[in-house]
Formats: sequence, C-alpha cells, structure tokens
Amino acid sequence: MKIDVIILAAGKGTRMKSDRPKVLHEIGGQSMLQRVIDSASSLGDTSLSVVIGHGAELVKAQTSGVSNFVLQTEQLGTGHAVSQVLPALRDDALCLILYGDVPLIQPETLERLIAATTPGSMSILTVTLDDATGYGRIVRDDNGKVTSIVEQKDGTVEQLAIKEINTGIMAVYQQQLASWLPNLSNDNAQGEYYLTDIVAMAVNDDISINTSSPKTSEEVEGVNNKVQLAVLERFYQKACADALMIDGATLADPARTDIRGTVSVGKDVYIDVNCVFKGKVSLGNSVTIGPNCTIENATIEDNVVVHANSVIESANMQNGSSLGPFGRLRPGADLGEGAKVGNFVEVKNSTLGKNSKANHLAYVGDAEIGSGCNIGAGTITCNYDGANKYKTSMGDNVFIGSNSTLVAPLTLSDNAFVGAGSTITLDLKTEELGVGRAKQRNIKGWKRPVKG
Ligand code: UD1
Ligand code: CA
Repeated sequence: MKIDVIILAAGKGTRMKSDRPKVLHEIGGQSMLQRVIDSASSLGDTSLSVVIGHGAELVKAQTSGVSNFVLQTEQLGTGHAVSQVLPALRDDALCLILYGDVPLIQPETLERLIAATTPGSMSILTVTLDDATGYGRIVRDDNGKVTSIVEQKDGTVEQLAIKEINTGIMAVYQQQLASWLPNLSNDNAQGEYYLTDIVAMAVNDDISINTSSPKTSEEVEGVNNKVQLAVLERFYQKACADALMIDGATLADPARTDIRGTVSVGKDVYIDVNCVFKGKVSLGNSVTIGPNCTIENATIEDNVVVHANSVIESANMQNGSSLGPFGRLRPGADLGEGAKVGNFVEVKNSTLGKNSKANHLAYVGDAEIGSGCNIGAGTITCNYDGANKYKTSMGDNVFIGSNSTLVAPLTLSDNAFVGAGSTITLDLKTEELGVGRAKQRNIKGWKRPVKG
C-alpha cells in the first residue's frame, strides 16, 4: 500500500521560549521531528512530506529521511498546512497526518489506524482524557457514530464536557483529501482553516469515521513548553530503562539512567546511578559501569569494569579491560584485553595491547602500545608540535618511568625501559634503557636562604 505521510511542523512554538524551532528540541537525544519521521518510515512504502515554516532552513538541515519539504509561509491553520502538500500526494495513496511536536507516536498505533482505513472510510486517533481542555472534542451521535470535531474555542458548553479528544493524527485517502480541503473555510473562532472540519464533510459524503486509540496517552501528547518536554523525556527514559532491565541489565536506579541513543546489553550487566549513554553503545556480558559515567558510541566487551566518573567517546574496551575512576577515552582509543587505564588518564586515538597499563595521570595520544607495557604516572606523549601530529610506537613489555615526556615521532622497541623523569627524543632499541634527564648534583654544606 502506498502511504503518503504528512507531518505538520510549521508552528513557531512560542511557549518553548527558544531560538530553536520547536520540533528540533530533543527527546532521548533525537529531535522530536526525527522521531516522528522514523516511526512513520517504518510503515512500508512511504513518501514523506514535512510542512515547515518557522526555522525552515534549520529544520531541513537537521532532519533526514524526508522526500519532500513544503514551505508554509503563513500558518493559517492545520487544514491550510495539509493543503500545501496536496500537489505532492500520490494518486490513491493513503495519507497519514502526523504532528512534528507529538514525538512518541508508535508504529503499531499507526499500523492499526491505517489498517482500519478503506476508500469508503477515514480514521482518526482519539483518546479519552480527564482534562480535555484545549483539545478538539469528538462529537458522536446517539448511535455512537462520529459526526464532527469541535475545537475548544468553538465548542458549546455541552460539547466541551466531552472527554474524548482529537489527537490530530488521522488517516484518509488522497482523493478524499483533495475533494474536501479546497472547501474548508476559516469562519471560526480562531479564523483558521481547521483540518478537523473534514470530519463533518466526510459524514456528509457518507464516508464513515473509524476511531482507534493508542496504548498510552503519552504517545499522543504534544509538546508546547519545556515542562511537557520534560514529562515526555522521563516517560521515554522509563521505557528505555524498562527495556534494558527486560534484556537482563541491573540498574541501580532506573530513574537515574539516561539513554540518548541505543544500548545493547549482555548478561549480568550492572549500571550504577547517573550514567548517560549516547549514540550506539554495546555492553557485553558481566560489564560493570560505575556511577556518573558518560558513554558514547562505544563497544565494551565482556568483563569490563568502568569505574566512577569516567567518560568514553567513540572507543573500544576489550575483554576484561578497565577504566577509571576519572578515566577518559577519546575517539579512537582501543584498550586491549585486560588493559588498565586509571585515574586522570586521557587516551586518544591509541591502542593499548593486552594487559598494558597506564594507571595514573597520563596523556596517551596517537600511540600504538604493545602488550604488557607499563606507562608510569605523569607520562605524556608529545604528539603535537603546534602544526602536525606524530605517532609514538611501543613494542611489548616497554616500561616508561614516571613523569616522562615522549617526544613523537618515537619508536620504543620490545623491553625498552625509560628512566623516570626523562625527556625522550631518540628511539630505543630492544632492551635499551633511555635516560634523558640532568644528572643530579649534591652540594655539601649548602645554607638555606634566610629572611632579609
Ligand atoms: C489541533 C487540532 C485539535 C487537536 C490538537 C491536538 C485542528 C484545527 N485542531 O489543535 O483538534 O485536539 O491539535 O494537539 O487541527 N501547524 C502547522 N501549520 C499551521 C498550523 C499548525 O504546521 O498553519 C502545525 C503545528 O506546528 C503543530 C500542529 O500543526 O505541530 C498542530 O497545530 P496547533 O496549532 O498546535 O493545533 P491545536 O490548536 O493544538
Ligand atoms: Ca497544539
């Protein structure tokens, strides 16, 4: 079935009090609009049009998977917005209308709505709320058949008592939209062209109206301000935490785990409080993540321990390796099996071989380090001369004494040894000792300075 998706996203979002267009605000690290697009794209043969207005260029630039952006220069109402897309709709397509600021709509809900729609009917997604204030109300006749939708500002007291509301999401065939939209009028309390008026037109044309509802009302909640954004964020995060736990992870506190991407877990994964996961993160079996860690686009293999307050970005940790507390892996860091990177150590674009260690206060950048090496406290790879970056290579079992400065490009072969406090500028061959520091002088009978 051809499905033409229309996403309305032209509104300004004044109440967000932000320079960013409303639909670009994020839930779980992804813009609200992109979430809607991704849910809709999963439905099959879709062609996707987004109606944009405020911040159009930015919305275009930061959104992917859209066949067609349509500019609505003046926001004259939801009916007017959909009319802008009419020329782009495919003949006989089923049109699915979504809102860019209703971010958590689920594909299953849309599938049900679509399945109910036939050329002789249209479907609207409705929900019953305790407080329906502000929404369009679903008006039904004595037989329970939908006859119209009435907006808050146009409703009679009797109509405003109705608790079943219009979520705004609907499915209707292209030929019907094309016949009804040109007949909309803006003769109403808001002076807008209401999309919702097509419901009464449908009834008039003997097109029946199906209704269905989402599993949870959060799915169809819109975001108009930061409070509503936060409510949906928490709802989304709870669902992510639940999914992780169902997959077997133990979360110290599901309310203090934030997922802004996707996380996969093996068995017996433990995640302490206040961890943030971004991008694509995979955690193997028996991985332990300490409190207050940020992990982004990382592959963490079995038996890894990430201690408290560590930050990982675009890096790998192989089986049994460990990081932190206060460790930092920057892009291109790859810790080998059993490797250890300890507190206040930064590793960038470097590999550490099996069981190699940099336990305290070091910078390891652009280095290839073999297995069994020991990088002493205070070691710095000087990889940058202010213009270019250079590489440091180490064989196996290299020992770097504390507080050493390794000036790249540099190659230290197997079993090389660097004396503490050295500045090393020359390569070391296998088993060589390099000492690059001033020789110590002891001065006998030296008098301490005294106050003048
Ligand atoms: C609309 C519905 C109402 C429903 C409610 C659900 C109409 C007339 N009313 O009301 O029945 O209960 O949504 O939230 O449809 N937009 C444009 N261009 C426009 C106008 C709106 O792109 O010219 C976009 C907005 O950016 C927003 C969406 O359409 O994403 C809904 O518009 P909004 O003005 O919020 O509609 P409501 O008055 O809330
Ligand atoms: Ca609204």
